[in-house]
Order: sequence, then structure tokens, then C-alpha cells
Amino acid sequence: MKEKLEALKAEAVSAVNSVTDEKGIEELRVKYLGKKGEITSLLKQMGSLSPEERPVMGQLVNKAKQEVEELITVKKAEISKKETEQKLLNETIDITMPGKSGKPGKLHPLNTVLNDMIDIFQSMGFDVVDGPEVETDHYNFECLNVPADHPARDMQDTFYLGENLLLRTQTSAAQIRTMETRKPPIRVICPGRVFRADEVDATHSPVFHQIEGLVVDKGITMCDLKGVLEQFAHEIYGKDTNVKFRPSFFPFTEPSVEVDVTCSECGGKGCRVCKGSGWIEILGAGMVHPKVLKSCGIDPDEYSGFAFGIGLDRLTTTRYKISDIRLLFENDKRFLEQF
Ligand code: PHE
Repeated sequence: MKEKLEALKAEAVSAVNSVTDEKGIEELRVKYLGKKGEITSLLKQMGSLSPEERPVMGQLVNKAKQEVEELITVKKAEISKKETEQKLLNETIDITMPGKSGKPGKLHPLNTVLNDMIDIFQSMGFDVVDGPEVETDHYNFECLNVPADHPARDMQDTFYLGENLLLRTQTSAAQIRTMETRKPPIRVICPGRVFRADEVDATHSPVFHQIEGLVVDKGITMCDLKGVLEQFAHEIYGKDTNVKFRPSFFPFTEPSVEVDVTCSECGGKGCRVCKGSGWIEILGAGMVHPKVLKSCGIDPDEYSGFAFGIGLDRLTTTRYKISDIRLLFENDKRFLEQF
């Protein structure tokens, strides 16, 4: 039995010495030292020995077990260290290599056009003001001379949020808020998002953008309105652009106009974009209705003013020849990267 033990031990030692991975070493541990392992099972054969031999042999087996165990522990540590080193070596990164650079962000085309417009109006002495997107019926309609039963409400399908709360359908609400807080002379623009329950198609979106303008002072006339808007159109579209004022109707201006400019696509000859007319409508405007001035505490006998509402989206699509307004809202990077 002693020879058997010696032979087993020698076999185990050489096996352990030649193993190279963690799985192999674990297999050897089970093979020799496990519950049914070859060295362990020698202990079970003790019964066949004489009572004097038993303790001697028992000691020898236990010693051999211990030695092989120690050897395995050391080998395991050695293997795991080697594997870690190998792993680190494989995962080495060269931190001196140049990194991947991200693409720089850009302004959305709507913002580029808006910034240009703000520059133009600021150079004419206008301040930029802000107004809330969630408005009350009072500011969006009532004060703008659009009472509850007024047919003009049909022109603007409204998203109501509650009894008196709505998403503003026009930036004109900013006219009222401005006249309530500022005294004439007033010269402001208010750019922002507006909302109407429109079907979505290539030229309509339930969300779009307006820039409201308001001027109130002594002796302001339609000529001032015409001058400011012509100046604006020439700066945005170029000096060769013609500007046409057509009579129109808005409840809060009297008289009211709609303003067209030469179609930038065809230069006025008529094309698909202007539906053959040679003109593109870009804004609504007019002289502030005396009723509106009065409701804001401004005496219409002393002061007069004009207001306009420019559609930013149309201006942007015509400037960049964008065929579908939806592209402005989808935020598709392939589209936005082109600007
Ligand atoms: N608010 C009007 C619209 O949305 C435009 C407008 C603004 C007209 C100011 C006159 C004066 O259609």
C-alpha cells in the first residue's frame, strides 16, 4: 500500500507540474483529492491493514494528501496570475493613439433664420420679448378683439387644455402682454412656437413658429409699417425682391394686410412652390385696432401702432429650398447635417 501511495503521489506531482490552465488543475484536484479521489480512497482501504499498521499508514496518506494539496494551491495561484497577466496584455490600449472626434453640433435651420431676423429687427431698434406657450383665452383671443362667438376663432383650430387654458394659436398674445407692462414708445418682437389643430402635410404642421412685431407710439402710420416690412424683406431676401401688400382681415388690426414677396424659387415667373402665382405669402399685419389699444390702457386718440406676425417656417423652407415642412420637426440627423 505504501508503494501504491508513493506511486500515486509521484503521478499527482508530475501531473500538477505539467498542467497549464485553471480547468485542468481543478480536474486534478478532484481526481486525487476529491471525495472519491484516488488518494482519498486509500484511506478507505485502511480496514484491510493490521491495527499497528493503520495509524502509520493513515499518517502517510494524510501527509501525502496535504503535500499534493499545497502543490495544487501554489500551482493554482501561479496559473491565475499568468492568466491575469495575459488578459491585461491582450487588453492593452495605446493611450497615445488619436481619439475618435465627434461631429460638432450646428444650429437648426429655423434658429439660423430666426437669428438673422432678430439681427435685422434689433438693428431697427426692436427689443426681443418672450411669452408663454400655454395661454389663457383672455390673452390669445378675448383681448385681441376675438370674442367667444367670433367667426375668426374657426380660422384657428385651437388645442384647449381646459376651460380657459389653451396652447397659443398665435404670438399675437404677446402684443397684449407687452402693452400691459410697457408704456409707449414700444418696439418689440416676440418669436415663438404656436399650435393649431391642423392636419399634417408637406406645408402644414400643428406646431409652427411666428415672430410677432409690435410698434406703438405717437403718429405711427401705415407708412411706417410698410417701411419696416419692406426693409425686413430686402434684408432677408435681397434688394431685388418685390413686396406686395394685399388687403386682408384680422380682428385685432384695422386696416389689415397680408404681405407677399417675390417667390425666391422662380424669381416671380411662377412655379410649383408659389403655385404659379410668382408670390409667396410670408406674414399678416395691420394697424393695431383702437379697441385693443384701449383694453390695454393705451389711449387710441393719443397713440397708434402697427403689428405683424411673420411665419418663420415658410421663410426657412423657401430660403433653403426645403420641399417639406415636416423635415423641420423630425430632427433626422441626415437632414440637419446639411446645414
Ligand atoms: N396673428 C396673425 C395670424 O396668426 C398674424 C397677425 C399678427 C396679423 C399681427 C396682424 C397683426 O395669422
